[in-house]
This record gives sequence, C-alpha cells and structure tokens, in this order.
Amino acid sequence: MRTRRSFGAGAVLSGRRPVIFAEFHRLMPASEPVSETVDGAPVAAVSQRARALKGETTVPGDKSISHRALILGTLATGETTIDGLLTGEDVLRTAAAMSALGAEIHGSEGPDNASHWKVRGRGIGGLSAPSDVIDLGNSGTGARLIAGVLSAYPFTSIITGDASLRKRPMARVTDPLSRTGAKFAGAAGGKLPMTITGTPLPVPLNYDSPVASAQVKSAVLLAGLHAPGETVVSEPATSRDHTERMFKYFGVDVDAGPASSDNGARYKVRITGQPELTGRHINVPGDPSSAAFVIVAALILPGSEITLRNVGLNPLRTGLFTTLEEMGANITYTNRRDEAGEPVADITAKASNLKSIAVPADRAPSMIDEYPILAVAAACAHGETRMDGLAELRVKESDRLTVMEKSLNACGVDARVEGDTLIVRGGIKAKGPVTIPVNLDHRIAMSFLVLGMAADHPVAIDDSSAMDTSYPGFIAAMNRLGAWIEAVDPADLPEPAV
Ligand code: S3P
Repeated sequence: MRTRRSFGAGAVLSGRRPVIFAEFHRLMPASEPVSETVDGAPVAAVSQRARALKGETTVPGDKSISHRALILGTLATGETTIDGLLTGEDVLRTAAAMSALGAEIHGSEGPDNASHWKVRGRGIGGLSAPSDVIDLGNSGTGARLIAGVLSAYPFTSIITGDASLRKRPMARVTDPLSRTGAKFAGAAGGKLPMTITGTPLPVPLNYDSPVASAQVKSAVLLAGLHAPGETVVSEPATSRDHTERMFKYFGVDVDAGPASSDNGARYKVRITGQPELTGRHINVPGDPSSAAFVIVAALILPGSEITLRNVGLNPLRTGLFTTLEEMGANITYTNRRDEAGEPVADITAKASNLKSIAVPADRAPSMIDEYPILAVAAACAHGETRMDGLAELRVKESDRLTVMEKSLNACGVDARVEGDTLIVRGGIKAKGPVTIPVNLDHRIAMSFLVLGMAADHPVAIDDSSAMDTSYPGFIAAMNRLGAWIEAVDPADLPEPAV
C-alpha cells in the first residue's frame, strides 16, 4: 500500500475540522456528508500490528454532556462557561444550531483536549426562529434533543442530517412530542429531513417510553422544561442520566428513581416546567465511550500500560468497564472526584489475558455505544463471548449488529448474530490486508483500527473523517501511545470485503 500522509504525534488529522470549528456558527447549509478529503478524495487509514502502548493522555470531552451543556447554556439566561467541551463534528453542529436559534457562542481550542467556550443564553421561551435549515450532520443526539426544544416554540424549522442520520428513526421522539401540541412532518417513515412547527404552550406530558433511550427521555424533558406544571417520563430500564444531572445542576426541580408501577422495574423522572435557569460553569469530563478504544487497545497489546486522565465515570455509562473487569482486565481508578454533578477519575489499563463472558441484556443501556469495541476485545479473548439484548444497535449510526458480524468475519474473526445476540469467538485468523467500509460510523472506524493493532494483517478503514464525530485526533493520539496507523489513498486499498 502506498502511504499518502502519516498521522504522527501532534499531526492535525485534517484541514476540515478546524474550518468547521472556526465557523461553527455559520454551519447551516442543507446537508452535506461530513467527509474528510484531500484534493477531493476521502482519506483512508491503515492500522498495522502495534507494539506495546505506553503513556498518559486525555480523551476528548464527553459527547452527551457537551450537547447538553450547549443546549442548557442556551436555555439559561446570562453566561454559561464550558471547559473541555468536545469539539467533534456532532457537538459543533449542536453549537451551530443553538447559535442559529439566538444564543451567542464562542469557543477556543487548547492543547490536550482543553477547550474554553462561552454561551450567552436566551432563557426558556427566548429562542428565535432560524433563518435556514438546521443540519445536525451525523448526530442522533443533536437531532432528537433539539427536536424536543423546537417543539416548544411557535415557529417552523426544518432539521436534517447526513446520509446516516436520515436513515435513523425519529418517530420515537416525534410520537411523544406530538402530544404536546407540536406538529412534525417528515420524510417517509418519519425520518429526516423534517419540518417542526412548535406550540407556544406545550402540554406537560406523562409519557411511558417503550424504549430505554436517553435521547427520547431528554427530548421529552426538554419540551417539558417549557411546559407549565409537571412533566413525567418513565422508561423500561435506566438510560444515561446526564440530562437529569445537568437539569439539577442548573437548578431545575428534578425527582428521579424507580417507578412505583411494575414493582419498581421501570425508572421514572419528574420535572417542574418553566424554571428560571441562570448560566453556570461546566467542566466536561473525558468521554468514557472514547476512552473505551484506548483502554481496549492497551488490554489486548502485550506489555501495554496507559493512563487516561479525567474520564467521566457516570455509573450509567460504565457497563463496558464492568464487563472488561469480569473478563479479567487490569483496570484501576484513581483520583475519583465530582465535576458539575458527574463522577470523574483517572483510569490506568494494563495488558491482560482476557477470557470470554456472557454479557447480560440488562447491561446494554450502560454500554450501548461500546459493543463494537467490546466485540474487538472478545476477538482477542479466550473462548466465546455472548452479548445479549442488542436490538438498539440496529438503529445507531449504522446497523452495528450486522456490520460487526460481517466486518469481523472479513478480518478473520468468527462472529455471528442470532436474533439480537452477537457471539464472537476469540482468535484472529491470518489474512491479507482487509478494508472495512465505515459508512459514516465513527465507532466502527475506531474499533477496526484497534483490531488492526492486534492482527497479523493490516486492517484499513476507507474513510477516517467519520472519527471526527466524537474523537478528533484519534489516530495521532493512538500513534503517540505506540500504535502504527497511517493515512493511505483509498485507491490503494484492497476492495472492501464486506
Ligand atoms: C446518547 C444516548 C444513547 C447513545 C448516544 C448518545 C445521548 O442513545 O447511543 O450515542 O447523549 O443521549 P439512546 O438514546 O439509545 O440512549
């Protein structure tokens, strides 16, 4: 393979992200695929067997918390300051959307994932109509949470997204939000692009969600922030609670816990609407979902030892770490503390002999984004790992259940899907170079670069831009720790085997 460009220590991944970063507030045109290019061609990357990973680093800010910090900063009056905001594509789209709705937002980036942002909010009820389509790019969280906000304003807006987001279900939020009095008109099947005509006075909902989804719960709660009286949402299992925690941090009256119905099996949250929110300071911790890639890479590469500083450890996000520990992973946590209502710690991971495990379905909500990288860990473990209850993986940035099965098989790993269960047998058979098509899914891209570090054959991804969604600088960060990942011209890659 001919190398086109190398991602050395400190290398900037692309010229595109800083442009979006600098101009996020003007990023409002109709949807363009967010695709990194050099001279008009996508940049591919190839990962080869790596030596032991060593060193200390940080990971970019938590994506879920970053979206919410921008949205709540916009709904508060006065200034909200945010340190460590993720400056990935998804969050920059939310920043652009909030700016289009009237917030004043300024950001600057520093080294080591430091970023400093200021949001001058408009207060609840204070947003103004956008003058153009709102394009949320690849971001399901941005689209669904902002749909909740827009449902409570008496103007019409249009939201859209990239080819991946336009395939994802929106009815899960528009069904409950329609009951507030808002009107939605979407593409066939309730997909984006979608017109939202909000209501000036949303009816407060009492909504029993059929799915454990933080995006659904948060969309209803954000609408409820604008409604008079109490809004109640329940869900069949507890999804990540960053919205509830940040609501409390901004002073919203929130009551959350097991519901009295169903013997307490469901989780229920109640808020009181129309509070006065005032600007706050938020430190965004590192994203445990991004830390997952670095931690698994260290666990599967003999001799490795890495430390990640300042990683969020919200218990509703740490299912992967629990699972890896059950598989025999050597992971330790130090310097535990709280930041803006969220638990945080430094994490050290050392190379470990992993053994297979059965991951119960009820763990899925606390590690829903981590199954692709867990499947890579399982490919490097002894025995057969079984992951149950993965129906929701089919509606992520790609159908991750099918994609993982096919892509692992292409890389020489025995993996199969049975219903909503993914089964992966440890062991990577030697092959020639393999190309995995990313199809706009950042976590598929990073998972297969990690697999390539442990395989005896190179593993390439056909488009490295997708990683900017959640982990800008992933390749440079991994190379600094000892990985061997290079940029290549996609024309030089073997045909995708998937
Ligand atoms: C998110 C919720 C999760 C997760 C996504 C981020 C959020 O989806 O997959 O990456 O920030 O609310 P669910 O809505 O399925 O919980």
